[in-house]
Amino acid sequence: MKVVILSGSVYGTSEEVARHAKTLLDAAGFDTWYNPRASLDELLASAPQALLAVTSTTGMGELPDNLLPLYAELRDRLPAQLRGLPGAVIGLGDASYGDTFCGGGEQIRELFAELGVNEVQGMLRLDASESVTPESDAEPWLAELITRLQAA
Ligand SMILES: Cc1cc2nc3c(=O)[nH]c(=O)nc-3n(C[C@H](O)[C@H](O)[C@H](O)COP(=O)(O)O)c2cc1C
Repeated sequence: MKVVILSGSVYGTSEEVARHAKTLLDAAGFDTWYNPRASLDELLASAPQALLAVTSTTGMGELPDNLLPLYAELRDRLPAQLRGLPGAVIGLGDASYGDTFCGGGEQIRELFAELGVNEVQGMLRLDASESVTPESDAEPWLAELITRLQAA
């Protein structure tokens, strides 16, 4: 199964989590594609069979700038090729921001719903105010995702 990873990051933490997810998915036998600067055409050309989004939150609940072009293109075009694919979201944030905690991840969940991507597992929220080891914190959730995708 071809798993495509998207990421949005200001300081690089989400990209580290995305790269760690790629390592674990590859080790589990998936064909994982990750390009942090992917355009929509490149993403579609990679023929995704599942989507994993990893994004932090900036401003007041906003997506990082480097994910905005792909986000806008996906919303504008709503490619039919993605409809029905299994998907999941890892949101990075900081709970001290209150109501906007992991707001970037929430925006991607809404986008997935518009695209018809089927969220197969609840969003993982990684809280920078609680932990400084987001990659290892994501491992149990990723192990569960791997089991779900293997069954999909
Ligand atoms: C200027 C700024 C604004 C932020 N705004 C939010 C926010 O609204 N909600 C939230 O949950 N986290 C917020 N954060 C926390 C980041 O999302 C968190 O530190 C994350 O781990 C950063 O990951 P990155 O290195 O991939 O960008 C903010 C951080 C900064 C520096």
